Amino acid sequence: MNSFEAQIAAALEATGTFSANAALKLISVPPDTTHGNFTIPCFSLAKTLRKAPKIIAEELAAQVKLPSGLSKVEAVNGYLNFFIDRSFLAKSTLEAIDAKGLDYGHADSNGKVVCIDFSSPNIGKELAFHHLRSTMIGNSLSRIYKAAGYKVERINHLGDWGTAFGKLIVMYLRENRPTDDATLDSLTVKELNILYASFSKISKEEPGLEDEARAAFTKLEQGDEFYRKLWTAFRAATLKELNRIYDMLGVSFDHYTGESFFEDKIPAILDELREKKLMVKSQELDVVMLDEFDLGPCLIRKSDGSTLYATRDLAAANYRKQEYNFDKCLYVVDLGQALHFKQVFHVLKKMGREWYKDMYHIPFGVILQLVDGKWEKGKTRTGTASLLRDVIEAAQKKILEFINEKNPDLENKEIIAREIGVSAITFNDLKNSRLKDVKFDWDAVMSFEGDTGPYVQNAHVRLCSIMRKAGYAVKLDEVDYAQLQDDNAYELIKVLARKGEKILAACNTDEPSVLAQYALEIAEYAHRFIHNDRVLGSAEEKSRLFLVQATQIVLENVLDLLGLFPIRQM
Ligand code: ARG
Repeated sequence: MNSFEAQIAAALEATGTFSANAALKLISVPPDTTHGNFTIPCFSLAKTLRKAPKIIAEELAAQVKLPSGLSKVEAVNGYLNFFIDRSFLAKSTLEAIDAKGLDYGHADSNGKVVCIDFSSPNIGKELAFHHLRSTMIGNSLSRIYKAAGYKVERINHLGDWGTAFGKLIVMYLRENRPTDDATLDSLTVKELNILYASFSKISKEEPGLEDEARAAFTKLEQGDEFYRKLWTAFRAATLKELNRIYDMLGVSFDHYTGESFFEDKIPAILDELREKKLMVKSQELDVVMLDEFDLGPCLIRKSDGSTLYATRDLAAANYRKQEYNFDKCLYVVDLGQALHFKQVFHVLKKMGREWYKDMYHIPFGVILQLVDGKWEKGKTRTGTASLLRDVIEAAQKKILEFINEKNPDLENKEIIAREIGVSAITFNDLKNSRLKDVKFDWDAVMSFEGDTGPYVQNAHVRLCSIMRKAGYAVKLDEVDYAQLQDDNAYELIKVLARKGEKILAACNTDEPSVLAQYALEIAEYAHRFIHNDRVLGSAEEKSRLFLVQATQIVLENVLDLLGLFPIRQM
């Protein structure tokens, strides 16, 4: 079914007064519905029609044929107001939710493919708290795109190649650590972190160490077997820990094609750049000049022949186009890398890849933590950044205390506590427009009041609890829609009816925050309905329970699209 707006626009076009497009631009949805659910101000038409707005509105009200589902049209002081038929809206919305279930509001397949590059941390370091943003925004976007009809390829472009590995190798050997298989197999990220930190410290006093690290990486790039063995162990140790955290977050990937994967695909890129005469020498480096786009040169290769981050991104982009034939390729990476992506996209343009315009950098702001009373961006290197693992554990502990106080006999309470805790952190991350910095304030994030994860989870829990107490499910033919026309029920149904529109809006703007705000809206109206309209034991029990069921289904799926765990009991 077309949206009410589209139907009204079509009906207005049929009066011959204006085009459907012009009508669509004028239609708005007033927050207060006493003057209708949709309103069209006629003032801007006065000039062309040479009539007073009041007259135009009255004439249109008389001429327009009401689309089905609307009960009334009214002209008031130059405004044309349309009213939704409450029982029609209730019936069409709740029947559709009943039929489609969790997929209600999802678009049919559009035959398009989207690649989403997200999380993509660097190997050899523990996941710091700020990696959460890329991971959770990307995870939510991949779910949203799927619901909007795309085939989604979730890609983890691990930072598993580059000079950092030279550093780790140099440090590992310098400390004379054992290199037998058993020791290498049991390496942990923690140890790698310590190696990394020691390197940073020592290299300040011993500048030669940096050169050693670069030489070690070149040796690794040239295929040295022993170095390769060390690298493989470092990578495996990090992946083990990463996967443990991704499991806790409920995040998965279709491809773990990290930077190292593109090693053997780089010569072809270099050949092509040379052939097309795009690569020039600048201070010992091979670069592609991007002056015509007002961008600095894109660095392709160092003097020792080793390649760079951008080179691997060029190879990766080509590979993705070939392998997945994407319609869109998203990079969910912090704002700090904006220049890098502009450069990569423009080099592709110069290489003649018309699809460079289908690549999008999806940037986001940083997570700020309170350090000595000031909001600061935590740094992994100096150790002020919280580790994601620690934050998750702390969140779990906090929620568990709450459960132990209120409902100590709850089954699986450790898992539920972790899921609510993770959801709380995620929701805090997704609730505002992604470009904003996120202030992480423990008490606010974990609170059950305000616009928080626990607040929306609690609404879902309450809906589930009413259904559990009822002990039966209502069927379609048991519902009397006339009993769902009071303001509390009607306002809630109106919110549920907008799910499809919200999914598309989130997808079109790459903004999970659209759905986070929508979840808050559902929670608010659900609370209001449950609070004001008694469900169990009332004369309207079955009809109201049906609305509770529908709301639970919609909210469960919206939580899922955000990457939260929908909790049923706490
Ligand atoms: N590994 C990089 C980092 O942690 C992010 C990679 C993003 N993806 C990409 N294709 N460049 O900063």
